[in-house]
Amino acid sequence: MAENRLKKGNFHQSTQYSIRDPRSATGIFDSGVGGLSVAREIMRQLPAQPILYLADQAHAPYGQRPLSEIRALSEGITRFLLAQGAGVIVIACNTASAAALHWLRRQFPDVPFVGMEPAVKPATTHTHSGQVGVIATAATFQGELFASLLARFANDVIVHTQVCPDLAPLVEAGELSTDRARAAVRGYLTPLLATGIDQLVLGCTHYPFLRPLIEEVVGPGVEIIDPAPAVAQQTGRVLAQRGLPVTAQRPAHRFLTTGAPDRFRIALHDLLGLTAAVEPVRWDAASRLALLSSS
Ligand code: DGL
Repeated sequence: MAENRLKKGNFHQSTQYSIRDPRSATGIFDSGVGGLSVAREIMRQLPAQPILYLADQAHAPYGQRPLSEIRALSEGITRFLLAQGAGVIVIACNTASAAALHWLRRQFPDVPFVGMEPAVKPATTHTHSGQVGVIATAATFQGELFASLLARFANDVIVHTQVCPDLAPLVEAGELSTDRARAAVRGYLTPLLATGIDQLVLGCTHYPFLRPLIEEVVGPGVEIIDPAPAVAQQTGRVLAQRGLPVTAQRPAHRFLTTGAPDRFRIALHDLLGLTAAVEPVRWDAASRLALLSSS
């Protein structure tokens, strides 16, 4: 439903977009295409809100990197998005949120951030079996954020975690339904299913794009929880609280990548059904991002 609406054309086909009103855009970032699962939901719930999406594909995947490195990358991206006109920053990446959310809030006290965390709370509320599964990156499970979620919500419930290092790279490569993707999903989920889980939390924004395969493997007895709708709702609340404008009739979205723009353009089309220009961005030696002229 959402994808059909997007396909019908909230998007311009021109090659240059500009967001005229400074602070009018919702800045969104991820290591790559995963955050598009959150951007899709924000576009659905807040159709007048211009999106400024940055994929740090030069560093994807983030999941196996040290937290300190992810933090530095997240800071560089935040500075860049603010300079490009973002009024709110959505960290559409569980890994970057785990590594950097609290720290970014301290570095940029005036900037509203929306972060992500694995949806342990709803899963522990919905479960009947008392066994909940969470799939995410290694860095997401290492962060304090996850430990505090367990401490707060997993008292009477057992939370089984599974690191899935191959899944984000598969999604980045556009492998959503290949035999390799099916085998990887099966390999990660089979041990979780053996524990008797009836809830599966998608703790990485890349995983919703594998949902058909995940559903095939877990079957109808397991509820799959994707936090994107809740994150989009929270973004709407933050925009309203800050009085940030949500006025554009046809919002001028911008998509940027530190990787290959052509590859991202194809992903945008394949994952969201969108045709849009993609702007190249490069990291410099001082860990700053700079816009390159469009290819
Ligand atoms: N999509 C990201 C997340 O939500 C990061 C995946 C990765 O780059 O490893 O965790």
